[in-house]
Amino acid sequence: MGVMRIGHASLKVMDVPAAVKHYTEVLGMKVTMEDKAGNVYLKCWDEWDRYSIILTPSDQAGMNHVAYKCEKDSDLTELKAKIEAYGIKVTELPEGSLPATGRMLQFKLPSGHEMRLYAQKEYVGTEVGTTNPDPWPDNITGAGAHWLDHCLLMCEMNPETGVNTVVDNVAFFKECLDFFLVEQICVGPGGAIQAAAFMTCTNTPHDIAFVGAPKSGLHHVSFFLDSWHDVLKAADVMSKKKVKIDVAPTRHGVTRGETIYFFDPSGNRNETFAGLGYLAMRDRPVTTWTEDKLWTGIFYHTGEVTPSFTDVYT
Ligand SMILES: [Fe+2]
Repeated sequence: MGVMRIGHASLKVMDVPAAVKHYTEVLGMKVTMEDKAGNVYLKCWDEWDRYSIILTPSDQAGMNHVAYKCEKDSDLTELKAKIEAYGIKVTELPEGSLPATGRMLQFKLPSGHEMRLYAQKEYVGTEVGTTNPDPWPDNITGAGAHWLDHCLLMCEMNPETGVNTVVDNVAFFKECLDFFLVEQICVGPGGAIQAAAFMTCTNTPHDIAFVGAPKSGLHHVSFFLDSWHDVLKAADVMSKKKVKIDVAPTRHGVTRGETIYFFDPSGNRNETFAGLGYLAMRDRPVTTWTEDKLWTGIFYHTGEVTPSFTDVYT
C-alpha cells in the first residue's frame, strides 16, 4: 500500500530540558529513549511505535525532517525507484541510522524540506495494550495527546517569479507517494494560484499540508485529541503551565478541525486538535477555499485576518 501514515517529526530545540518538560507535561508524551548525541525520543500514550517526536539540540528552532511510515519494506524499494525516476535524489540510510528504526529513504521535497520514509520501527505498544483495553490509561498528564497526526509545512512561493512549491509538492505527493488532494486555498486572478493544499494518504482530512510562504519552514506539528472538550482542557493546561498560546480554541473551516495553537519553548508551533471533520475518500471532490474566504477557512468563527499566524514559523 506504500505510505501508511506520519511516523515522526524531528524537531530542533534550543533548550532540551525545557522542551522535554513541554512535550511531557503539556502534551502528555513520555520519553522513551535518549541517545549519546543528546537527542530525546518521545511517544504519546495511544501510539504503539517507540517514538513519534525526536528533540535534537540546536541553536535554532525548526524541523530537521518529517518521516512517514510505509507498510512493507518492499514499499521502500518501489518508492525509491519511483522518486528517483521523478528526478529527486534519494539517499538510503541503513537500519539503525535512527535508533529502533529500520532502513530509511531520505530525500528533499520540492519545497526543500527533508522527508524520510521507513517501514520498521520498534513496537512497544500503547499504554492500554491490545487485550481488552481500557479507553484511556490512568496516568494521563497534560493534554493527553493521543498521537502525532500531521504536519503543516510552509513552502516557498513567489507568484512574481512563478515559484510555487505548494503546487510542486502536491504533484510529487500525488504522483510518487499516492496521496490525494482533499482541500485547497486558491488565490489570485481567477483563483489560479494554489496557495495551500491539504493532502492525505489515509481517510483523515489531512496527513500533511502545505502553505505558500516567502521561504520554506515548519508551521506546526499537530497532535490528536478526542473531543472539543479536550481541546478546551488542553488550553487550560497551557494556561496553567504558562505556555504561549498562539490561537485560543476555535474551529477551522478547512478540514473542520477544532483546534488550539501554541508554541514550544523554542518557538516551534504545536497544534492539538479534535474532530476528524469527515472521512476523506479518494473519490471525494476537492474542497476549494477562495481568496475572499481565505481567513474564514483558517478561523471559521471570526474569519479575522491574523498575519502572525502565517508570518511566524520556524
Ligand atoms: Fe494542523
